Amino acid sequence: MNSEPKILFVYFSFTQQTQKVVEVMSDVLRAKGCSVSQARIEFTDERYAGVFSNFPLRRAFLQLISMFPPQLRRATGEIRIDHEILAGDYDLICFGSPTWWLTTNMPMRSFLKSDAAARLLKGRRFGAFVVCRRYWKNNLETVKRLGIANGGDYVGGTYFTFAGGQVASLLSFVSYMGAGINKPRYLGLKIPPTNLKPDYSIGAEAFADSLAEITA
Ligand SMILES: Cc1cc2nc3c(=O)[nH]c(=O)nc-3n(C[C@H](O)[C@H](O)[C@H](O)COP(=O)(O)O)c2cc1C
Repeated sequence: MNSEPKILFVYFSFTQQTQKVVEVMSDVLRAKGCSVSQARIEFTDERYAGVFSNFPLRRAFLQLISMFPPQLRRATGEIRIDHEILAGDYDLICFGSPTWWLTTNMPMRSFLKSDAAARLLKGRRFGAFVVCRRYWKNNLETVKRLGIANGGDYVGGTYFTFAGGQVASLLSFVSYMGAGINKPRYLGLKIPPTNLKPDYSIGAEAFADSLAEITA
C-alpha cells in the first residue's frame, strides 16, 4: 500500500457547484489518509468575459445562448491554472467538469487539449465527474476520451444532476443565472430549485471512496 496516496482535483466551476463536490470528495479522501491537492481552472479569455465576469448574469438567456456556437464547434479559449500544483507527483487525477451546451465546458476542454494536460496525464490514472442540469453523458465521455488521448488511464466517472424535468430544470437554471438565487416561479410557472440536489454528498462520498480504494 502507498504510504500516502496523492490525489489531484482539476476542475472548473462558475457557480461553485463543482467546487462543492470537490470539497466533499477531498474531505473523504483526506480522512482516508490521502494527500489531496486542488487546481482550479480560471477562464481568462477576453472574448467571453462579457458572459462570465459577473454573476448573476445581466441578460442570462442571451448570454447563455451566446456560448452555444463556440461550444458547438468545440472551441478552446484562454485559461489559467496553477502550474506548480500540476507539477506534483500524483497517483490519481480527478477532473470536475460542468456541462455547457451538452458537452464539456470550454475551460476544461482547453485544459485537456493543452501541453500541461499531456504532461500531467501521461501514464497516470484519472477519473472524472460531471455536474450539470441534466446532460452528463457527452461531457463525461469527452473528458474520458481527451484524457486517454493524453496518455491517461481512465478508472471511472460519475455525475450529479439538478432537480426537475427537461423544461422545469431549464427554467430554474435560467432564472437562477439571472437572479443569483433560487426563486419559486419563473415566467409565472412554478419551478424546482436549481443546482446540486441536497443528497449530492452521498454520491460524492461514494465516488471518493472508490477513488481511495483505487489508490490504496
Ligand atoms: C453556458 C452554459 C451552458 C449550459 N448548458 C447545459 C446543458 O446543455 N446541459 C445541462 O445539463 N446543463 C447545462 N448548463 C448548466 C451547467 O451544467 C451548470 O451550470 C453547471 O454544472 C454548474 O456547475 P458550476 O457551478 O461548477 O459552474 C449550462 C451552463 C452554462 C453556463
